[in-house]
Amino acid sequence: MALLLKTSSDRGPWWREEFGKALPDLEFRLWPATGRAEDIEFALVWKPEPGFLRALPKLKVIFSLGAGVDHIFEDPHLPEGVPIVRLVDEQLTRQMVEYAVLHTLRFHRQVPGYEAQQRDKRWHELPQKMTRERRVGVMGVGEIGGAVARKLAGFGFDVAGWARTERKIEGARVFAGRGQLTPFLGRSEIVVCVLPLTPDTTDILNARAFAAMPRGSYVISIGRGGQLVETDLLAALDSGHLAGAALDVFREEPLPASSPLWTHPKVTLTPHVAAITDPRSALSQVVENIGRVRRGLAPLNVVDPKRGY
Ligand code: GLV
Repeated sequence: MALLLKTSSDRGPWWREEFGKALPDLEFRLWPATGRAEDIEFALVWKPEPGFLRALPKLKVIFSLGAGVDHIFEDPHLPEGVPIVRLVDEQLTRQMVEYAVLHTLRFHRQVPGYEAQQRDKRWHELPQKMTRERRVGVMGVGEIGGAVARKLAGFGFDVAGWARTERKIEGARVFAGRGQLTPFLGRSEIVVCVLPLTPDTTDILNARAFAAMPRGSYVISIGRGGQLVETDLLAALDSGHLAGAALDVFREEPLPASSPLWTHPKVTLTPHVAAITDPRSALSQVVENIGRVRRGLAPLNVVDPKRGY
């Protein structure tokens, strides 16, 4: 019986080595060398080809190579009844927290403004808010967003969260549901979006959302590109309503060279690297789940196809 890995990164051989150490009895196959479809019991995937998973008759579990599973649900022909497992990985959460903190502090401490002044050799002090006066809003307060909100609250920021349903986060007020989105945005000067991509969250960062935020606010988009209406963001930056944006995810990846985001003076962007799945840390839960399935137990961290995460 075999496990198939489909990744768009060059970390395939690394995964092979780590799997070989942890599960030497499991045959490891690296896409596109899939071999006999009947042998494949487990698939660990990033952006599987539509229809491909359905053609694996013995498939027992689909593992996402990332925390998000939208790249799997994009396949309209998924096999029925095969559980889909998302990655819940401490290291991945830690990296997302680092990225959110990095850019929140960067905006809070006016680094883009000072960088511009340095280019002009200008020695000038910009006004600085106290941390407790800076209202940060975290959209999505599950596994990753909850950790982001708690860490930012630990710095002393005035943190609120927004979620689909009521939740409790230590040190942060949580706004829940669409009805509370506008008041949440209205108090948030730095919005960090870590939501999963679902039909409900598609295009959620749009002109209306930006208009609800206070003038001079910032956006940090590290959930999924499909949540951000890029033309609305550019308009809000150009009008001066938004002061800056840090973007790691895009509607089209790689971001096309023609995108005005690349060169916009108020945009900092990275190529979807806020968190990178590291086999050394992510492998153990895949191994644990394979062990559970072999013992006849349900895997952990199965997503709800109706909810989409
Ligand atoms: C990365 O985007 C992930 O889903 O982990």
